[in-house]
Formats: sequence, structure tokens, C-alpha cells
Amino acid sequence: MEHSKAMSGLFITFEGGEGSGKTTQINRLAQTLTAAGHKVITTREPGGTPEAEKIREFIVQREGGDWSSMAECLLLFAARVMHVDKIIRPALEEGKIVISDRFTDSTRAYQGYGRGFDLAKMEELNDMVLGGFGPDLTFILDVEPKMGLSRSERRLAAEILDAAQTEDKFERMDTSFHEKIRQGFLDIAANEPERCRALDATQSIDDLAEAIKTAALERLGA
Ligand code: TMP
Repeated sequence: MEHSKAMSGLFITFEGGEGSGKTTQINRLAQTLTAAGHKVITTREPGGTPEAEKIREFIVQREGGDWSSMAECLLLFAARVMHVDKIIRPALEEGKIVISDRFTDSTRAYQGYGRGFDLAKMEELNDMVLGGFGPDLTFILDVEPKMGLSRSERRLAAEILDAAQTEDKFERMDTSFHEKIRQGFLDIAANEPERCRALDATQSIDDLAEAIKTAALERLGA
């Protein structure tokens, strides 16, 4: 379900595996839309509020804990409901464009496809917690896991700084885990073509930014 029509803003999410270049593209799109006169906020998941940033530590840090997939889902939705209620909905109600680095599709891909949590149960949880609230437009940046992992900034930092970087719980999982996540994102894109645009993340930064800009402006009716 898209966000309520009573709200006038637009909710855009970026999704993809490790090293897909989301951050660069989010910054580019935020600049483009701001220059076009829109009020834009950028945020991320897990995170976006002080409470959710605390939960982020459990999810992404190497020493964050050995949570079951159910417990991990509950933590992610707990973080998400705070994020939606405190940041995303109020901004949309003010007519802003909200761009989030990850949202529920990441839970579908990582905890569902990756860790095997039942996808139908996850949708029930989504309905219960968020009433099915979700993005209007989602960019899925697709990259082959080996390439993505090798260009992941966190992994590079960990290597260069001798593992001083600890936000790498999922990056340390094996390639087959990342293959399942990639397939999950591609399935989501195929199932929801109105909302999702799957884009080849190995093209040049400029070409990718142009494709994203075109789709976003089209969605804004410009
Ligand atoms: P990021 O900084 O690349 O967005 O990393 C966040 C990590 O958290 C990434 O490995 C994916 C993971 N994650 C999940 O497993 N499930 C989720 O629902 C979200 C939002 C992130």
C-alpha cells in the first residue's frame, strides 16, 4: 500500500545488496530534487531516530547479538514504527519528499529471503505495525554480490583499518546468503512493477543518476 493520499509528499526508498552504491545515488537525487524546488529529507534504516539508531547496533554490528530471524524482524519493525511516526509521516504531511536508504523491502530480502523468515507472516506483521504503510517509489540497485561486496565501503574500511569497522554483520555472511538477497529484491521488483524500478548498479554513476532522476520526476508528474 502506498502512503495515504491525505499526505501530499512523496516517499522514495533505495534498496539493494551490499556495495550497490545507494548512498551516492541518494545524495545525487536529493540534490536534483532540491534544485528543482522540492523540500527533501534523507534518512536511513535501521535508524532515523535516536531510538531506532540504538536498535541499528543490534542489527548491523558484528557484536550486536545472535538474534533469531523472528526477533530480528521484531526489532526492525520496532525501529521502523518509530521512524515512520516521528520522521517520515510528519514530513510527508508537510508535503516533503522523504528519501530513505532502505525500508521494509530490506526486511523482506534479508530476514525473509536471506534468513528464511516466513514472508506471509512478515506481511501480517507489516499490516499490524504499519497498516501496510510503504513507499510510493522504490529504486532497487542491482549488483552481482561478489562485485558489490568487493566494492562495499565498509568492507574496504575494515580491511584498511584492520577491522576497526564493526557494522558488517551481514557483509560477513557467505556469498549464497547474498545471492538469496539479490533474488529477493529482484522478485519484489517483478511483483510490484508500479512501485519498483530495478536498475543495473554497475552502470556509470552519472547514467544511473540520470535514470533515477527521470523516474522520480515522472512520478512527481514533472
Ligand atoms: P546499510 O548501511 O548498507 O543500509 O546497512 C544496513 C544493514 O542492515 C545491511 O547489511 C542490511 C541490514 N538490514 C536488514 O537486514 N534488514 C532490514 O530491514 C534493514 C533496513 C537493514
